[in-house]
Amino acid sequence: MANQSEIKVKKEPYSNQSWPWWPLLPLYPYGRRRTVFEELIPGNIWGFQQLQGLYYVAVPVRLTVVKVSNGLMLINPLPPTSELLRGLSALEKQYGPVLTIVLPTASGLEHKISLPALARSFPKADLWVCPGQWSFPFALPLDWLGVPKSRTKVLLDQGLPHQETCSWISLGPLDIGLGRFQEVACFHKPSRALMVTDALIGIESKPPELFDLDPTPLLFHARDRGDQLFEDSPQMRKKGWARLVLFASFLRPKLLEIPPLLDVIRNSFKPGLRNAKAHFGLFPFTWKEGWEISASNLMGDKKPLIQVAPVLERLVFPRAKQSFIKWLDELIRIKGIRWLVPAHFSAPIEFRTGQVKRLRNRINNSRWATGEGDWGFLDTLDNTLLKRGVVPSDPLEAFKDQDLQG
Ligand SMILES: [Fe+2]
Repeated sequence: MANQSEIKVKKEPYSNQSWPWWPLLPLYPYGRRRTVFEELIPGNIWGFQQLQGLYYVAVPVRLTVVKVSNGLMLINPLPPTSELLRGLSALEKQYGPVLTIVLPTASGLEHKISLPALARSFPKADLWVCPGQWSFPFALPLDWLGVPKSRTKVLLDQGLPHQETCSWISLGPLDIGLGRFQEVACFHKPSRALMVTDALIGIESKPPELFDLDPTPLLFHARDRGDQLFEDSPQMRKKGWARLVLFASFLRPKLLEIPPLLDVIRNSFKPGLRNAKAHFGLFPFTWKEGWEISASNLMGDKKPLIQVAPVLERLVFPRAKQSFIKWLDELIRIKGIRWLVPAHFSAPIEFRTGQVKRLRNRINNSRWATGEGDWGFLDTLDNTLLKRGVVPSDPLEAFKDQDLQG
């Protein structure tokens, strides 16, 4: 059994991974963002992944680089650490300069928070943002948020970038109370890959490579009690990953219990755990028997399991299944679609027309946005927001007089 201080962490100087703007959205791993580079479709699509999350519930977030005529397009900004900029510079040397940066989502805070910093790193790049950008708690104009107005355009409203190589397909808009949900997917014709942000994900039971750099979040959650020391093994990493997937999917899965505070404190006094990395021994979770079955329903063993994230289905689209189906119908009409590249979890995932059709039919025939089992917490949350008038009962009502065709 290994003390957490003995866990091997791959070394890269802290200065290359530093993200000084982390207090704007204080998510784990705070000021230090390790980056993993992936060649997704050779010569065409690349990815850079970093971790983002709360209390070690961290999932990978991806910036996708797309080859366009005469250069590169970046989709979904990430904090531009030296390490990330070095990777992008290597791609620029081979494939041309970064011409365009796209923020294709209206609501995904984890994707928009680093747009200003990334834009400053590429002062000549054009910026394109999804319509309906909003900030909370105050609605601020984009340039107040640090996005330079002079080189920023709004997708669909002011045209679309790189139409010679890309077609763009909008999901939404929907009124979600605090603001709007919308994301604009990009189909890259040369690679036949569809880039999405949060609309679809594919999850595997194998932990992402990013955790090889520092497996602490996996080992923290792989434990069954707060007084258990960290133990590093492939099985424990897989177990921790399965629990992270459950947290990220359902926020509070059904078979997770919060133990009494006294027990949590008592367990935290075990020697070897009194340090920041182990959250000073505080581990307020108890997993009930059978949780593995819930997790296995979300993950594929040999290949990623494509799905709509439960949070999206139950909190964003609960009363708008038809909008989602309509978007899938548009994907079915794309000739030659082959790959899916989401901004979270696995990529690229095989995604041919037949698979899109099967997914569309499965969703159409299944019970959408249920409140059963693991979905209970999301269900209660949505019903509370609905009852208090925070979210509207008809998410399409606010947009019914607008021409939304892009
Ligand atoms: Fe996201």
